[in-house]
Amino acid sequence: MSTRRLLVCDIDGTLLENSRPTAGLKALSARIRGERSRIRLIYATGRTFASTWSLVAQGTLPRPDAVASQVGSEVWLPPFNAPHTRFASHIAPRWDVGVVERVTRRHPELVAQKRQFQTPYKLSYLVDEGCRDLSSGLHKELSSHGVDAKILYSGRRFVDILPARAGKRGAVSYLSSFWGGNMSILACGDSGNDLDLLSDPRVKGVVVGNASDGRLTDLRGDWGIFRSRFPFAAGVLDGALHFGFFATSLSLYPRSHFPLPAGIDLLDAVQGCPY
Ligand code: GLC
Ligand code: MG
Repeated sequence: MSTRRLLVCDIDGTLLENSRPTAGLKALSARIRGERSRIRLIYATGRTFASTWSLVAQGTLPRPDAVASQVGSEVWLPPFNAPHTRFASHIAPRWDVGVVERVTRRHPELVAQKRQFQTPYKLSYLVDEGCRDLSSGLHKELSSHGVDAKILYSGRRFVDILPARAGKRGAVSYLSSFWGGNMSILACGDSGNDLDLLSDPRVKGVVVGNASDGRLTDLRGDWGIFRSRFPFAAGVLDGALHFGFFATSLSLYPRSHFPLPAGIDLLDAVQGCPY
């Protein structure tokens, strides 16, 4: 398959709101299914693989070509029965989960998340909103113990510590090379754990309209970043159309809706989509 286009979507806050489908998701899924032979789809998510796959199995989300779960600390490829071990070996250098546990124990502000959110390559914590950003101090401390970490703040409450080569950017870059490289990548997201991917200069990025993290909304003026005024999946669809990501014409929609005449809202248009 010579699919050189890669659509990377975050799930929560991007395609779903409170785990429920958002306006535009059906239309977006129909576009993706219609171009399956030329687009590869990756979910890059903080979720576990199992919770991502349950959304696919129940038909809420289209079947992907890969999943970068646990904030890009795991990669899953067909037949989706185990994490891809070569990715684990790729991110393992200069990582030691025991050192990260020991160092973070010295920081009482970091409260470990539940067991199911911890993996050998992702340690996740909760912090109080407004807690000072510990990342540069932690980074130095870990580095002095030989650990090269990536520290991500999202949603003002979550802190993830991952190997430097992991994260959504690392996982997508790995997958793009795995599939032969030189791909045209469109990444869509709403929060802090999307930042490293969205700010990758090799990627075109869509920040959905509901994003509120200033670090993402400030990317607006950057080359290659599109801030949609539409929230969630409608924002992804809007961004994909903005970048001309889909090849075929928009025949799925009633003719009167595309191109959008002034005053017609994309949300109305996608809700009017027959799919
Ligand atoms: C998801 C993960 C959690 C992580 C957060 C931010 O909610 O379950 O572990 O901290 O995303 O990346
Ligand atoms: Mg999100």
